[in-house]
Order: sequence, then structure tokens, then C-alpha cells
Amino acid sequence: MKYVDKQERLNGYDWPSNAFTMIGLNRLNNIEDCIRTILKDNIQGDFIETGVWRGGATIFMRALLKELGIKDKTVWLADSFKGLPKPNSKSYPADEGIDLYNRPILTCSLEEVQNNFRIFGLLDKQVQFLSGWFKDTLPIAPVKNLSLLRLDGDLYESTLIALEHLYPKLSVGGFVIIDDYNAFPFCKAAVDDYRMKINCEELMIEIDNEAIYWRKA
Ligand SMILES: C[S@@+](CC[C@H](N)C(=O)[O-])C[C@H]1O[C@@H](n2cnc3c(N)ncnc32)[C@H](O)[C@@H]1O
Repeated sequence: MKYVDKQERLNGYDWPSNAFTMIGLNRLNNIEDCIRTILKDNIQGDFIETGVWRGGATIFMRALLKELGIKDKTVWLADSFKGLPKPNSKSYPADEGIDLYNRPILTCSLEEVQNNFRIFGLLDKQVQFLSGWFKDTLPIAPVKNLSLLRLDGDLYESTLIALEHLYPKLSVGGFVIIDDYNAFPFCKAAVDDYRMKINCEELMIEIDNEAIYWRKA
């Protein structure tokens, strides 16, 4: 019999066979802290997660909006809903040899994610889906402005494309969360390259051993 390691789950270090999210309690608490600060400081813009898997982190965002009676913010979900892409190592050499596309556990269909929202009674017009590869969906996404940008697409390509197309839409005072900054060197490289390109000097704060966030100044 395989036991679940409680510390691994709390910290989001495993890939649970049976859960709505893999990110663990520390990172869920970080989402809640960011959202409460955004609302307290009246920061304009919607929330997005790029890389949603079974949708748990975004279900949590929508649930919090409902709990707090917020009707003017939308939660956007961007995902292929068929797992990670094969590495495009010609354009993104940092991703060479990464075989995450080959892990069936990392795939969850749009219908399953929508059904997960339904289970909680949270599938409504404040939840919008951007279905497809980030390189196709994010450049044309009808997202006007954001106050919370949560990146969880793992790869250099997935992280960089999300930053390039969505960070300019993040309001000053909004938060960007990088789920895998200290988990995957290729994810870290994309963030470091992008921050250097735009001269971003905001302090990065550790959430746990894998995830970080910063607030746009
Ligand atoms: C680690 S999982 C996300 C975990 C999720 N945030 C949670 O709360 O459990 C990574 C997700 O990113 C998606 N993904 C990664 N790169 C992508 C890309 N370039 N285009 C579309 N989806 C992508 C995968 O389909 C997968 O659902």
C-alpha cells in the first residue's frame, strides 16, 4: 500500500493521484494572502493561472471571490487541457530533453476541470477558459488587465510566453506567483531572463522551497 506523505502534500512536493490541486497548503495560503491584499488595496484586474491541471488553485480563487462577495473580477484558466508540450529546444534550448509532456498524470481535460468547478457550484461567468497552447492563446487572450498572475506551466517556454504576454497587463500593486521557480532550473531561467530584459528589480519572496512571488511596483 502506498501512503501519502503529509508533509510532501502540505508543501505541494508530490503529484497526488487524487486531489484537485498539487500545490499544497502553503501555496494556497499565499493565493489567499495575495487576493485579500489586492482587494484591500483596490488593485484593478482579473486573476489568471497559466497551467491549471485539475483546476484546484483556480477553484480556490473563485471560491474566495464568492465568499467575499466580489462580482467584478474574473478568474481565467489557461491550459492546453492535454498536458505539457514537447520541448521546442530550437527556440527554447533550456527545455531540451524535458519529458514532462510524457507524463499522463499531468494531463486533465477541459471537461474534467469544468466538472471540478461544478462539484463546488462555482462554474459561472466569472470563470473563463483559454484552451490551447500558450503560444496560441496568450498573445490574443481577451484579458484586459490583471491583479493576480499565477504561472504554473513548468517549462522555460511556458513560463516565458506567459510573462511576455501577461506581465504587461498586471496592474501596479498586483502579484505574480511562479510556482516552480526553485523546482525547475528551466523555469527559473525563464523568469530571470525576463526580469533582466525588463529591468525588473522587485524583491522575490519565497513561499516554500519551490514557489516564489513578487509584487509589481
Ligand atoms: C504542474 S501542472 C499545473 C498544476 C496546477 N496549477 C495545480 O493547481 O495543481 C502544469 C499544467 O500546465 C499546462 N501547460 C504547461 N505548458 C503549457 C503550454 N505551453 N500550453 C498550455 N498548457 C501548458 C499543462 O497542461 C498542465 O495542466
